[in-house]
Amino acid sequence: MCWSPPHEEARTWLLGELRSAGLEAWVDPAGNIFGGTGIGGLSPEKPVVLTGSHIDTVPEGGILDGALGVLAGLECLQTIRESGARHARPLAVAAWSDEEGRYGSLFGSRAFCGLLDVVRLDEMASVDGVRLVDAMARAGFDAHRAPQARVPPGAVNAYVELHIEQGPRLEEAGIPIGVVEAIVGVRRSRVIFHGQADHAGTTPMERRRDAFLAAADYALRVREHVVTRGSKASVTNFGVVHVHPGASNIVPGRAELVHEMRDPDVAVLERLAGECVALAREVAGTRHLRVEIQPMSATTPALCSPRVQAVTEKVCATLGLATRRLYSAAGHDAQNLTRVTDSGMIFIPSLGGRSHRVDEMSDWQAIERGTNALLHTLLALADGGD
Ligand code: GLV
Ligand code: MN
Ligand code: MN
Repeated sequence: MCWSPPHEEARTWLLGELRSAGLEAWVDPAGNIFGGTGIGGLSPEKPVVLTGSHIDTVPEGGILDGALGVLAGLECLQTIRESGARHARPLAVAAWSDEEGRYGSLFGSRAFCGLLDVVRLDEMASVDGVRLVDAMARAGFDAHRAPQARVPPGAVNAYVELHIEQGPRLEEAGIPIGVVEAIVGVRRSRVIFHGQADHAGTTPMERRRDAFLAAADYALRVREHVVTRGSKASVTNFGVVHVHPGASNIVPGRAELVHEMRDPDVAVLERLAGECVALAREVAGTRHLRVEIQPMSATTPALCSPRVQAVTEKVCATLGLATRRLYSAAGHDAQNLTRVTDSGMIFIPSLGGRSHRVDEMSDWQAIERGTNALLHTLLALADGGD
């Protein structure tokens, strides 16, 4: 979890690894970690070809979501440096902070791409109530300086991120490399039903204004709505549920849900978001309680760079690796990077399509193939011959 003591230990470890690989290493004010070949910062005078991903993970998550892209990027840069392979442009690897959204979503890459909502920094708090400013301060960072991480225009020539697919499509098709053409947008909001706490034994059933039942009703209706009225790619989830006061002998007076929705098409996502607000009001009206909806974060769906896709396909053809174009159903820092440069992603198959769980894995050969695809994509982009 970003900014936590174990995360800060991992940051120190990574900085050590970057330096022992012969790279210049630095950390920006948003906590993003960089290692570069012969550069100690980013500037438009020497546009860099950048790779990377993230080292934070979800609760009870696996070892590859994020860490793969950072460590493969480090491995590629070390290999390039040690082999003396030619690259006209400098190369760098980034570990973006708080990709998993302890605070909003894709925090570090948003700061880097100038997408932070600066006026909200003071009020940003995690689901367990810890404020961003306090979490960052404890890790030695000043949250108010995070916007200074914004990259100067023209300083990044291209960005390419290696990641596990996190779903079943590549494995089921027997294709070793996915070339990402689009990345979903994710909307998160807190939906709070305010009912009435009451004695769970003595209050007649027909008099109860049970906030939990309203929340449950809403969750089921949203699922049905998204499945029947969304696109084929629309998905929704309720991953956080709090019931207050939280005692078995009290009718729940308040229920809070974190509602997440995703789609690669911004128009579909906007429409569904509006329809879900109407559904929440309808549920509240029918059950005689009040509903409050607080937007938490929204990322924009993004199209990946045709140049990066073409380079990856070309190098994979040379390496004898079959590719398939696909959209990413997970959010990634690469979608923010599309705002500042040519940005794309390379996917490898996930065993059983599993991710965000502790047994998330890919074959070691798949990891090697993906890292080779990344290595040659980086070299082709850095050579300027694309
Ligand atoms: C990233 O992990 C996501 O939730 O899409
Ligand atoms: Mn993840
Ligand atoms: Mn990830």
